[in-house]
Amino acid sequence: MNADDMKKAAAEAAIEYVENGMIVGIGTGSTANHFIDLLAKIKSRIDGTVASSEASAERLRGHGIPVLDLNQVGDLQLYVDGADESNEQLHLIKGGGGALTREKIVAGASEKFVCIADESKLVRVLGKFPLPVEVIPMAQSFIARQLVKLGGQPTLREGFVTDNGNIILDVHNLEIMEPVKLEQQINMLPGVVTVGIFAYRPADVLILGGPDGARTVMPK
Ligand code: A5P
Repeated sequence: MNADDMKKAAAEAAIEYVENGMIVGIGTGSTANHFIDLLAKIKSRIDGTVASSEASAERLRGHGIPVLDLNQVGDLQLYVDGADESNEQLHLIKGGGGALTREKIVAGASEKFVCIADESKLVRVLGKFPLPVEVIPMAQSFIARQLVKLGGQPTLREGFVTDNGNIILDVHNLEIMEPVKLEQQINMLPGVVTVGIFAYRPADVLILGGPDGARTVMPK
């Protein structure tokens, strides 16, 4: 089984969480894409979706699955999304695809966050994957200096603009021992739109695809 098959196995297991009549929050990335493709097969059972990116919205519409505005639907029962890293508490790093802000909004508005990933994403300490931070363009240099003070090495994601018209700084060389604290510290910097640590609102369930299929991890 290659990594893509493992992602698909995790997405298949997440379909079990979809109940009739739900409006499902949908993440972004290659694992979420598998989930979207599988959701298409049971689309008549759901009332619609809320997408965390233009890319996912387009894929959903391509399957004829309704994409709704979060403001029109209120809180969601379920959000399904991938991650770049998860620790055993199900604190995550997200934003490798640059959709972290809308992902954090939809995750925040959802009762249950089911994270789907291949097993390589489970780590002991977050931070080997460069931490994405979405920043208002005029604050780029200021925020980069603050991130250096916090021990990281930020680099600009070249040629990339988020769905919200902002830039991404990817912060290298962090060993994130206290994810909730660092999430709050970076969030407080003026000019930061969103930091890609999802610890204040972690995943509730992690489904990991491996060579033998999918297994479910609950937070420690
Ligand atoms: C998108 O911005 C990210 O948060 C993705 O959820 C993350 O990068 C996982 O992507 P893959 O499913 O492609 O590994």
